[in-house]
Amino acid sequence: MKFFLDTASLDEITEAVSWGAVAGVTTNPTLYAKIGGKLQDFEQHIKKICSLVPGPVSAEVDAADAQSMIAQGRALAALADNVAVKVPMTLSGLAATRALANEGIEVNMTLVFSVPQAIMAARAGARFVSPFVGRFDDIAEDGIEQLANIVAALHNYDFRDVGPKGQSIEVIAASIRNPNHVTQAALLGADIATVPFGVLKKCAEHPLTTNGLAAFAADWEKVKQA
Ligand code: G3P
Repeated sequence: MKFFLDTASLDEITEAVSWGAVAGVTTNPTLYAKIGGKLQDFEQHIKKICSLVPGPVSAEVDAADAQSMIAQGRALAALADNVAVKVPMTLSGLAATRALANEGIEVNMTLVFSVPQAIMAARAGARFVSPFVGRFDDIAEDGIEQLANIVAALHNYDFRDVGPKGQSIEVIAASIRNPNHVTQAALLGADIATVPFGVLKKCAEHPLTTNGLAAFAADWEKVKQA
């Protein structure tokens, strides 16, 4: 499984890329607003992210109708070679995905919560599909079970004939809230998990690692004094 970083922060991206685990970035309007982003800086910001990341960078359209989504998608894709256009799972979003995929533009279909939605996204030519795990947990439902269903259903078929440039769809486990979500996503075979900076940091930690390090340090002091 690959890690994407779910953030719009350049500092977080720079630091996490240095750890060697980041294969892409996903952003959305909420994440851009969180870092105090301004509309007039948005395209430059996406370009900067694209230059820092060795893989796809999802940038979201904000239009609701298909023609405007297509126009925005083309403009975003022109910013850098590694832009993936993030499009919401709506009928207009599906139409925009089909049109953009026909032009060889990679689409990440977001706000996906069910198997039929994921299959529709795949058929429309999406390069990535993003089932949201945490948002199910927020309403006391099992987000991991929904993710497992989507991964299993998509694995039954080959979507290379409908994807951009003959590539098949990859599942991005999104709305990831903790390392346990990461564990579950990896065990059930999600291709990618997009995780916030804090969660990725926690993924490198374990209490027994911390305790083990303290024990080694104490014993090394004994060795030095022997
Ligand atoms: O990429 C966006 C997705 O991960 C949303 O997460 O925490 O807003 O449910 P969240």
